[in-house]
Amino acid sequence: MRVFNWKENINEKELNIIVSKIKEGELIVFPTETVYGIGTNALDGEACKKIFEAKGRPADNPLIVHVCNLEMLKKCVGNINHIEEKLINAFMPGPFTLILEKAKEIPASVTAGLNTVAIRMPSNEIARTIIEKANVPIAAPSANESGKPSGTNIEDIKEELGEKVFALIDGGSTEIGLESTVVKVVDGIPKILRPGKITAEDIRNVVGTVNIDEHVLGKVEKEEKVESPGMKHRHYAPKTKCVLLDIEDEIQKIKEINKLVNQNICFIGFTETGLKLSLLENKLNYLTKTDFYSYGDTLEEISKNIFSLLRKVDKKNYDLIVIEGVKPEGLGLAIMNRLLRTCEYNVIKQSENIES
Ligand code: TXA
Ligand code: MG
Repeated sequence: MRVFNWKENINEKELNIIVSKIKEGELIVFPTETVYGIGTNALDGEACKKIFEAKGRPADNPLIVHVCNLEMLKKCVGNINHIEEKLINAFMPGPFTLILEKAKEIPASVTAGLNTVAIRMPSNEIARTIIEKANVPIAAPSANESGKPSGTNIEDIKEELGEKVFALIDGGSTEIGLESTVVKVVDGIPKILRPGKITAEDIRNVVGTVNIDEHVLGKVEKEEKVESPGMKHRHYAPKTKCVLLDIEDEIQKIKEINKLVNQNICFIGFTETGLKLSLLENKLNYLTKTDFYSYGDTLEEISKNIFSLLRKVDKKNYDLIVIEGVKPEGLGLAIMNRLLRTCEYNVIKQSENIES
């Protein structure tokens, strides 16, 4: 397996190799500002089928097509309406994906037979340089085995996909850590299908209104029709069972953890909650000590750390991973959307009467 280290700068010789391999339909792993992608030439339908194989991705889950500029974007899509144009101008390049009418040049294997295509223009320099130099759009889902947390650094990805690609390009840990915001304009109103760093507020500021798909926080029932195929599939989940602690009251939060400590559990949460937990441990007669892992102090830190932390903790063979929830506002909506899936909707909620 080849790893190209481009953390400091892009190696021109290696860039030429990567570009020629992409044109031959080989797979590469490359960084973006959100998460790493596993991709190849989006115009080569057969090559794109290899992406599904490498990830074990269901064939009905379409890929995102990455472009480097407006000219390339326009070649991949049909008509662009006035609202879509505003969104493109406001959020591209950046952590934003727009579902648009598909051009016939985009193969059916990329879009899973849909007549729409997901388009993203990454801002990450490595991603942009590769697309520009290859001069073809690159189809790429997140770099991870289907169902697992997305890859945010090369060490994590190497284990899962290293043997399945021509090369992995190391650009360091990704800046944002959660995947792009996916939006589709439905009846003239942007609808968030997957929340991300670009928030509902950001979109409202540009076009005045925004809808959030009911499945962003809601569970998708079997046979239910969804706007985005990815919503139906298992996602972001480690092997270990996880539960989401969706409780605001500190004391109740800690009491709920206390109820679970007869198993070998760990707790992932805010640094501050971890501190409070250790202070209260004696008071509440803990049966055993609970291993604590901080996911950070801010929503930005959680977003950056969470996937890699889940992989790390998953290796320790706990019976249960308890994860502290956040307020589903701003970037918090994206975090809760991922955590609900990580926990497969297994949630401990605030009880009605709080005794302390
Ligand atoms: O940040 C990101 O978006 C990363 C980086 C690599 O760009 N990519 C990523 O791709 O997260 P992926 O494949 O893991 O997620 C793409 C999501 C899936 O949920 C898929 O169902 C949805 O976008 N999607 C793709 N094409 C679609 C379409 N035509 N209509 C509706 N949803 C679509
Ligand atoms: Mg993914």
